[in-house]
Amino acid sequence: MLQIGPLLLDSPLLLAPIAGHCDLSFRILCREQGGVGLASTDLLNSRAILNGSAKTLELAATNDLDNPCGMQLYGNYEDPLPEAACWAIDHGAKLIDINMGCPVDKVAKKHGGSLLLRDCPSTMRLTERIVEAVRKHSGGRIPVTAKMRLGWDREHFVAPILARDLESIGIQAVTVHGRWTVQFFSGKADWERIGEVVAAVKSIPVIGNGDVTEPQHVIDLMRLTNCAGVMIGRGALRTPWIFRQALELLQMGDNPIPERVFAPSFLYKCQMIRRHIDLLTQFAPSERHALHTMRSRIAWYSKTMGPIKPLKEAIRTALSLAEMVSAIDSWIEMASEDQEIRHKVVGVGAEFLG
Ligand SMILES: Cc1cc2nc3c(=O)[nH]c(=O)nc-3n(C[C@H](O)[C@H](O)[C@H](O)COP(=O)(O)O)c2cc1C
Repeated sequence: MLQIGPLLLDSPLLLAPIAGHCDLSFRILCREQGGVGLASTDLLNSRAILNGSAKTLELAATNDLDNPCGMQLYGNYEDPLPEAACWAIDHGAKLIDINMGCPVDKVAKKHGGSLLLRDCPSTMRLTERIVEAVRKHSGGRIPVTAKMRLGWDREHFVAPILARDLESIGIQAVTVHGRWTVQFFSGKADWERIGEVVAAVKSIPVIGNGDVTEPQHVIDLMRLTNCAGVMIGRGALRTPWIFRQALELLQMGDNPIPERVFAPSFLYKCQMIRRHIDLLTQFAPSERHALHTMRSRIAWYSKTMGPIKPLKEAIRTALSLAEMVSAIDSWIEMASEDQEIRHKVVGVGAEFLG
């Protein structure tokens, strides 16, 4: 469990926002696999929310299957972040997260994201306004958190001091991606420095993030840094069941038995892809969008599925969701038969041995 202000999460494992990937369908898919304590929307532009931009409102969409849902906002010191936060609360957010880590030029040059790491006094004033607005609007029900990198570059390791100062003005958890802004996504996440942020805050939870791609990494990161939770991004795109596996490991305590951890079969993975298509059918803004999403996803999923070139090709060339469904259904059928045969073989073998 993980307590973030008044919000109690069932699991200390969080799905990271990944713009263009962690949409409503994918968040629900990961939650259904198990082990996800919180998932957030991708970064939302505060002005676009208040202007009613159709694209941004789509990104902000959530529902009962996507609970508890955080909404992540970005903006600079002049942007209407407090107002956008109130809007988010009215539209289902159970937590407001401020993006202080996006390195992409479009965002970090003028609109916010990692820009907020460059002028900490202004960031403090902005955050104070957001925290106050959210407190008033929600009656203290909704926590405000920040997601940051270590700093802009190695010469500016601001995360420990910034996290401590943010705590003093009411931020209720901090997520730290262990890279510098100038690194974008290159190199390795520096987990040791995440530990320095944990040591700097008084009592709020720090959530470690960066390069967690195996369930065991969750244990390693928590042990090394003492962080209270772990956020997983790209690892979940490949294996959405990683949260369930990591939670099982965590629940085993000091003597985890990795062989006992849930290991999805080939059939399970095919069924999960089918479920993802179903969710896209229900929640994607258009069939075109759903097709595009699944074409990119199959590349991630295939990384753990062995030789499935014909399935990848069928998904890539499908002209409708119905075609995609029929392609995956035939693989489900083949995998079910295969599993049945294998069961029988094991059965016969067992009788023979007996
Ligand atoms: C394509 C892409 C888009 C991302 N979009 C966001 C975003 O919208 N908000 C955010 O806070 N972080 C974003 N991130 C950063 C991730 O949340 C996470 O901090 C980073 O990928 C490191 O974690 P990982 O190694 O588990 O993926 C993005 C990362 C990638 C690769």
